[in-house]
This record gives sequence, structure tokens and C-alpha cells, in this order.
Amino acid sequence: MSGATQKQVMLSAVQPSSGLTIGNYIGALRNWVKFQRDYECWFFAVNLHAITVRQDPKELREQTYRAVATYIAAGIDPEHATLFVQSQVPQHAELAWLLNCYCYMGELGRMTQFKDKSQKAGENIPVGLFTYPVLMAADILLYDTELVPVGADQKQHIELTRDLAIRMNNAYGEDLFKVPQPMIPPVGARIMSLQDPTSKMSKSDPDPNASVFLSDSDDVIRKKIKRAVTDSGSEITDDDSKPGVKNLLSIQSAITGTSIAELVRQYAGKQYGHLKVDTAEIVVQAVSPLRAEAERLYAERAHLEKILARGAEKAREKAGRTLKRAYERIGLL
Ligand code: TYM
Repeated sequence: MSGATQKQVMLSAVQPSSGLTIGNYIGALRNWVKFQRDYECWFFAVNLHAITVRQDPKELREQTYRAVATYIAAGIDPEHATLFVQSQVPQHAELAWLLNCYCYMGELGRMTQFKDKSQKAGENIPVGLFTYPVLMAADILLYDTELVPVGADQKQHIELTRDLAIRMNNAYGEDLFKVPQPMIPPVGARIMSLQDPTSKMSKSDPDPNASVFLSDSDDVIRKKIKRAVTDSGSEITDDDSKPGVKNLLSIQSAITGTSIAELVRQYAGKQYGHLKVDTAEIVVQAVSPLRAEAERLYAERAHLEKILARGAEKAREKAGRTLKRAYERIGLL
């Protein structure tokens, strides 16, 4: 025995459907960075999920590289965490098929993200949008994942993943799949749109002023936050009746670590304008170095490709073992 204790497995991913937002950063990516040393980590770009809505092929390819460059710029160490792209590990699509045969239509129909996105899809709703959470379950279960650091919007998908894992384990043996847990940050798990603070900040929002992207220049960030919709009245509180003000307080609190209660105390007697200027500066300070580094890495295509090739090889090996186990238990030749 070497005496070394096995680390728990942490896994997470982002869709490279457009640039990443500060919501993705605060809700997910920052936690990956924070905990990467404590876990065996698998982080990837889910380009197969991204095609559940139409993507321009060239743009999708470039956004995939940008996403990975952003992970590294944010502090993920590719020598430590395995970084890869979902489409380069065929086992994800293969396990998704198996899980499709054990997941119920009713379960998928209840998914909030499906309800939202299918409404926007119009008359022809792609089947992939419906089965999206099954592919996500495959992503997670292939790696014996224990913890999944995500924002609040993904909690329901992880609960479905747990249900599927338990269902399969009951049928084929308790050690078939590890049952994962979500890891959701106490502050910043749901950053809201700057233009409509009752809905989530989303990279697919057609209004570019609704989201701060990690690629936005300092000036653009300042302008977007200055224009953020706040609420009537003038008092700065985290009251639910003031979702716009509360959102800016959450962004500040998540980035600086100062509690919201403390921020409310500090802003007593001050105006919304002060809150906006301070929030903008705090976001600029967090995003600016990350943007510069992501741009530099994005330009180093050969270097990124090397990291991704190595990551995909490792991922295929691990995922291949899990898939083989599932095939054998189910009775597939
Ligand atoms: P995606 O690409 O929509 O978002 C990536 C991560 O960012 C979090 N997030 C937010 N957090 C706080 N406030 C927001 N406004 C906000 N918007 C997004 C998300 O919760 C997520 O953690 N289905 C996933 C991608 C996925 C995945 C996986 C994640 C596919 N397979 C396996 C974990 C494990 C998604 O669409 O995330």
C-alpha cells in the first residue's frame, strides 16, 4: 500500500454556445478553481449539448477553444485537472443512449430548463433539447463523480442524474455508478440579468446588455453595470422587492467575500449610483486580467490542442472503463 488516500472526483462543464458570462464564472468556474487541489478534477466544454440549439459551425469551434482558454485563464491548472472537449470522448454519447432507455418522459418533461428552452424553440422542438439532461447524466456518471460544482439552475439536472444512477444500481448492482452531489455556492448561485433582474443572466440572452461577458472590455463592463435596471426607491437593501439592487449586492459579495449584510450596512445612506460604480470596478478588477490571459491562450492554438488531446485520451480511458462495466451488466455484447 502506498498510503496515499484516493481523492474524491469533481467534475463540471460549460456549454460553449457563446462567450462565458460572469454568471458562469461566479456560479461555477470560480469554485472549480477554488477546489481543484482537493479533488481529482475533470472539466470540459460540452459542445454536444450546445448543438441542442442551432450553432454556426465556425463560431461553435472557436467558442469551444475560447471556453477552454477561459478555464485556464481563470486558474485551472491543466497539469492537475483533466481538460477536454465532450465531442472528443465518444463514450458520452454512448452512455447517454443507455441512460435514455432507463429515463422516463415524465421526468424529462418536468425539467425547468426544457420548459424554458422549448418555449423559445417554436413549433419544432429538437428531441435533443428534451433528452439534454440524459447526456448530462452520462457526462457525470462516466467518471465516478462525487461532486458537481454548478449554479443553482443545474440542481434539478443533478437530481435527475442521482435518480438515474440509483435506478440503474438497483437493477444492476450498487457499484455500477457513484451517486453524485451538487455543490452550489452559498452566494452567487443565481446571478440575474442586468436588464430583467427577475430572470437569470444567460449567455443566450438576445439583449447583449443583459449579461457581462468575460470577454467584455473594461469600458463595456462599466457601461452595462451603469445601465443595469435597478428598482424604485433609493434605499440599498437586499430585500426581495428590490431584485436589481439585490443582484448587484450578490455580485459584489460573491467576488469580494464581504457578506451581503455587511455591504448593506456600508451602503446605508448612499445612492444606487454608488452601488453601481463600486460593483462595476469590482467586476472590472476580476474580469480584466482573466480576459487578457484568455486572449493570449486562445491565440496559442497548438498549445491548447496539445492540452485537449492529452485530456481527451485520459477521459476516453476512464470513461471507457465505466461504459464497459455498464455494457457487461446490461448484457450487451
Ligand atoms: P451552462 O453552460 O448553462 O452554465 C455553466 C455553469 O454556469 C452556471 N451558471 C450560472 N451560475 C450563476 N448565475 C447564473 N446566471 C448562471 N448561468 C449559468 C451553471 O449553473 C453551470 O454550472 N447543463 C450545463 C452544462 C453541463 C454540465 C454537465 C455541468 C453539461 N454536462 C456535467 C456539470 C456537469 C449547462 O448548460 O451549463
